[in-house]
Order: sequence, then C-alpha cells, then structure tokens
Amino acid sequence: MKKILITGGAGFIGSHVVRLFVNKYGDSQIVNLDALTYAGNLENLKDIAEKPNYTFVKGDITDESFIDELFTQYQFDSVIHLAAESHVDRSIADPLAFIRTNILGTVNLLNAAKKIWQKDMTGKRFYHISTDEVYGSLGEEGLFTETTAYDPRSPYSASKASSDHLVRAYYHTYGLPVVISNCSNNYGPNQFPEKLIPLSINNIKKNNPIPIYGKGENIRDWLYVIDHANAIDLIFNKGLIGNTYNIGGINEWTNIDLIHKICEVMDRKLGREQGTSAQLITFVKDRAGHDKRYAIDSSKLMKELEWSPSLQFEEGIEKTIDWYLQNEEWLDNILSGEYEKYYKKQYADR
Ligand code: NAD
Ligand code: TYD
Repeated sequence: MKKILITGGAGFIGSHVVRLFVNKYGDSQIVNLDALTYAGNLENLKDIAEKPNYTFVKGDITDESFIDELFTQYQFDSVIHLAAESHVDRSIADPLAFIRTNILGTVNLLNAAKKIWQKDMTGKRFYHISTDEVYGSLGEEGLFTETTAYDPRSPYSASKASSDHLVRAYYHTYGLPVVISNCSNNYGPNQFPEKLIPLSINNIKKNNPIPIYGKGENIRDWLYVIDHANAIDLIFNKGLIGNTYNIGGINEWTNIDLIHKICEVMDRKLGREQGTSAQLITFVKDRAGHDKRYAIDSSKLMKELEWSPSLQFEEGIEKTIDWYLQNEEWLDNILSGEYEKYYKKQYADR
C-alpha cells in the first residue's frame, strides 16, 4: 500500500485534496498531518473520517523531531505539502508565524523526506503547493508564467517564495524528486471566512458592511477549489520531476465587480430586492503594499497535462453561496471565539 502524506489537510484546499485522494485511491493510505491552527477544521472532513485508508495526525510541521519520527514511522512514498499560514493580512500583523510555518516547516519536511528516501528515490515525490503571489504584482497587461522572476511583496508571499526556492534547492543539491505548482486565488466551500469571498457572503447575510480595501480596483484571478484539487491530482501523477506548473482560472475580476456579482446573487437567493446588498459596500483603508493585479498563464499545464478548469465562475459562485447558506453551523462555529477578536482588530481602525 502506497503511503501519501498530505500536510494542511484540515484547511480549505487541503480538505478538498484529502477527500479526492481518499475516495479515488482506495489502495493508498492517506495520512493527513495538520496542527489544527485557527484555520484547520476537522468538520471539513467528517464525511471521510472513518474511511479505512484515511489517518489523521495532529502535529506541527515546525517541530523537527516530531516530523523526523513521523517519517521514520510511516516511511511515506510521497508528500503533498499544503500546510501554511495563508492570509496576507495576518502576515502583515505577524510575519514571524509565516516564517516559522512556511519556511522552517517546509525545510523540516524536506529534510525528513531526504533522510528516508536517500538510498532510493525511485517512485518518490515531494509535491509543494504554492501561490501565484510569489511572482509579485502585475500592471494592466501581462500574465505570470513559470519563468516570471519572483518578486514577492507581502510577508506571506515572501515566505512562500522562500519555501519554493528551498524546494528547488533540494532538487538541485540533493536530487530530491520535487514538483511545484503555483495557483491563483481559490474560492469555494470550506474557505475560512477571513478571505474576501466568504467574508462578503457572511456579511451580506448578516447585513453587515462589506469592507473593500482602497477603491476595489485590485484584480485577482479566481479558481474553484475543486478544479485546483483536480489539477493537484494530475500534477501529482503526471507532472515532471523538477518542474513547476502554474494553475489559474482564466477568470480575472476587480474586487468591486466581484462583490457586485456576489451581492446580485445574494439578493436573489435571500429574496431581497436587487441592489439591497450592494448598499452594504464600504470602502475602507487600503491594505499595506496591496498587490494590484494577479493573472496567470496556465498554458503549460493545459497543453502538457491537458488540464482545464471545469466550471464557469457564474456556476462556481452560485455553488459557493449555496454551500455557505446551507452550512450555517459550520460558519457559526468559526465565527464565535477567536475569529470575532481577529475581525474586530483587523477592521476596527479601517
Ligand atoms: P488554510 O489557511 O485554509 O489552511 C492551512 C492549513 O494548514 C490549516 O488546516 C492549518 O491548521 C494547517 N497548518 C498551519 N500551520 C501549520 C503547522 N505549523 N503545522 C501543521 N499544519 C499547519 O490554507 P489554504 O487556503 O487551504 O491554502 C493551502 C495551501 O495552498 C497553502 O500552502 C497556500 O499557500 C496555498 N495556496 C492557497 C491559495 C488560496 O487561494 N487559498 C492559492 C494558491 C495557493
Ligand atoms: P484575500 O481573499 O485576502 O486574498 P489575497 O490577498 O491572497 O489575494 O483578498 C482578495 C482581494 O480582496 C485582495 O485584493 C484584498 C481584497 N480584500 C478586501 O478588499 N477586503 C477584505 O476584507 C479582504 C479580506 C480582502
């Protein structure tokens, strides 16, 4: 039985990847390693928790000896590494947490994999999941390709860029069989409500202001999370060792247009008169160092591995909104406690 370690599997994207792998690869043992930080939630995986090929391990990737022991115990064949601190605003408030998990944590995993695989690397794979934010910020024109020079501008993107460099360094220096993908902004079920789309859905539902940083002119490319999980599956199985693949939705939106779209769908779903939710839009102080535009060229992945996004944004956002409206308990459990404090602090003086 092949043993696959997925880190960060209790988070947003990780939970979709774990579900896909547990259901699709019954002949592999899927070990989900997650520290259950504020962003980790085992509720995301309750439908597969009892499957015989699934194991959950609570643990921190920054704990060197724990990681070393885990790899020695399980002798993993491959690793899909998603565990990270992932929110730009939190990285502005507390960069060190990002340095620890995203950089040191990644190096601990690389070292542990190197140690157990050093005698024979055949069939082994260390797959590092990263972001398009490592490439920096675009103007009106152009797309990020796999050869775009790194130019990270937030502590989050700098820590992810650093981890990407280290993963490549282990490939070149030690011959570790690595592959990397850099994806654009994900959206969909189970995303933690600190991120723009679920935050807006929740605030509209509760008739609270929708905080838009600056003038709302920043542009992001949005990909439905299940399309990302499918791309990860493809790259995990068919991606070439030492390669990087960009993943994007071919779906650019300014924040303000995106929020208007969400308001329109929410008005319809909640039986409100069109235009009601848009009145909640509130322009607030801009994010420090706010990247203007991200847009990604995924033609390598589309041509070489024949991937394409399956959903149009209109369909994806409907599904996402339906999920949040149908899973009030999931959201309410998060909204109480630590998150309430974070929200007050983050938006108080904007
Ligand atoms: P998330 O914040 O929802 O989940 C992160 C998970 O990692 C959580 O379950 C958390 O408990 C776990 N974790 C954090 N620190 C840990 C530690 N020290 N040890 C073990 N587990 C720890 O993040 P996400 O949005 O699902 O992102 C997952 C990965 O995908 C990240 O590496 C992120 O950089 C990357 N990514 C995210 C997006 C996006 O739009 N969300 C886009 C591209 C790439
Ligand atoms: P976010 O979901 O935090 O993702 P990222 O910063 O990784 O792209 O933010 C998406 C965009 O929305 C980004 O341009 C910042 C903006 N934004 C707001 O305008 N208001 C908010 O309250 C948040 C969280 C984000």
